[in-house]
Amino acid sequence: MSRRAQFLEVLGIQTEWVPRASRPAQPEAPARVAAQPAALPASEPPAAVTAAPVAAAVVQAGAPLAAAAAPPPAREPVAPALVSAAVPGAAQADREAAIATMDWPALEAAVAGCTACGLCQTRTSTVFGVGARQAEWMLVGEAPGENEDLQGEPFVGQAGKLLDNMLGALGLARGRNVFIANVLKCRPPGNRNPEADEAAQCEPFLRRQIALVRPRVIVALGRFAAQSLLRTTTPIGKLRGTVHAYQGIPVVVTYHPAYLLRTLTDKARAWEDLCLAREVHDRAGAGA
Ligand code: URA
Repeated sequence: MSRRAQFLEVLGIQTEWVPRASRPAQPEAPARVAAQPAALPASEPPAAVTAAPVAAAVVQAGAPLAAAAAPPPAREPVAPALVSAAVPGAAQADREAAIATMDWPALEAAVAGCTACGLCQTRTSTVFGVGARQAEWMLVGEAPGENEDLQGEPFVGQAGKLLDNMLGALGLARGRNVFIANVLKCRPPGNRNPEADEAAQCEPFLRRQIALVRPRVIVALGRFAAQSLLRTTTPIGKLRGTVHAYQGIPVVVTYHPAYLLRTLTDKARAWEDLCLAREVHDRAGAGA
């Protein structure tokens, strides 16, 4: 079975295929479509995911996006105002500078002992991240949920199972060739949306993780992760399909696995996003 067929089976969307002629017009932005990515299997299933690869001009964080037609309405939960975090004072600047020089053990210890925001009072465990520390792929999610808070590992619930299956369809696995982390290292109580200050306090940890891993590609999972990394409030529908950059590393945006569990219609788009990420990774020069 081709990787693509495997991926679609994982997502359970076989029944979504319809003949191309009778398919309604795609609501998503057309164009931004270039040649088929090298990783895309030769034998394609019909319709639905035909638009796959996308021009991979890198867009730096915060820069205007490439010309795009009207995107589909954003359907993920609205993230807080991520770019409005307070300008750090001297103490915060010192903290950030210290984190920016940490090695892995120091960083892990700093996260485990962090009391920089109120989430430390309600967490069971911090969730540092998991995977190969020299991975060429890095995935960034939002924040730990209940299971992750209990187990201290990202994406161990239902969304995590889907994520692992999606990675498997790409020939990737956590612990082998992927590093997975979240923007927030502590669970927001009741799985509420993260607050801007919480994201601001946690950001230096993620920034240092990315600097230490130096992945060839970062995949931002969901609106919150994408908007946090790229310092933008642009909706995820507009961020998808373009290669952005974080500290010089290419960033591809896709939907959050928890959202994909609920939203059949966007699962095929997630495959397009991962094909783009694969293309970006392969172009960077290594086979994962
Ligand atoms: N959702 C996330 O964004 N991260 C996790 O670790 C779990 C669920």
